[in-house]
Amino acid sequence: MNFTELARKRHTTKVYKNTQEMPQDILDQLLEATSLAPTALGAEQARVIVARTKEAKEIVAPGFMGFNATKVLTSNATFIFVGQTKKYLIDDEAKHLKENISFFDLNSEMGKNTLSGTVGWYNNDASRSEFLDIIAAGNKSSYLTLKATELNLASTIMTGLNYDTMENILRDHNLLAEGERAILGVTVGTEDETNEINQNIKNHKLRKPADQFAAEIK
Ligand SMILES: Cc1cc2nc3c(=O)[nH]c(=O)nc-3n(C[C@H](O)[C@H](O)[C@H](O)COP(=O)(O)O)c2cc1C
Repeated sequence: MNFTELARKRHTTKVYKNTQEMPQDILDQLLEATSLAPTALGAEQARVIVARTKEAKEIVAPGFMGFNATKVLTSNATFIFVGQTKKYLIDDEAKHLKENISFFDLNSEMGKNTLSGTVGWYNNDASRSEFLDIIAAGNKSSYLTLKATELNLASTIMTGLNYDTMENILRDHNLLAEGERAILGVTVGTEDETNEINQNIKNHKLRKPADQFAAEIK
């Protein structure tokens, strides 16, 4: 399947079959693809928390709106993307930003330049820098769901969260630092192919054609 075929095939699943938890090798493949998505400045403003066991899914389910909580409980795994705000990354002499880009040797010329460039950019652009974690989570969730499709797994990207509840749940389990926020969730599992809504979504890719969503400067 080439990329466009994969993108055409990916669709939102509304109802999953109640199935087992996701095997480790599948989770590893999904997380690798997710990690390959780009982030602004390479600053890795989003990370993901995985709920795979029945118990873990039950813990996070109340953090989703009712119609999504059912998906969580019947998924093979649920992924919660949390984002790191500008303040979180830059405060404390950019402590958390340094952790995020520790794959650079921060004592090398390149590492020093990367760090100071990133901090400088964050501090100079007071507007869009507030949203980079949301963009990072969007990019990462796209890669995750496309990889799931490639592995013949169904998926759902969800912003239908009870955000305050979700953040409290994550904080209670020491999974969310002060300054991090919940952004979106993704369920991955096995589609209930007998469900009519699923069939309908699968068979109708409703999209604006390019001549309506794109404009070209001539
Ligand atoms: C950012 C985002 C948030 C979404 N939130 C939800 C959600 O909370 N619950 C849900 O069932 N579907 C959700 N969806 C699925 C969309 O409704 C769906 O992607 C859209 O209708 C296009 O259908 P398709 O994904 O099958 O191509 C969301 C999708 C995106 C991209």
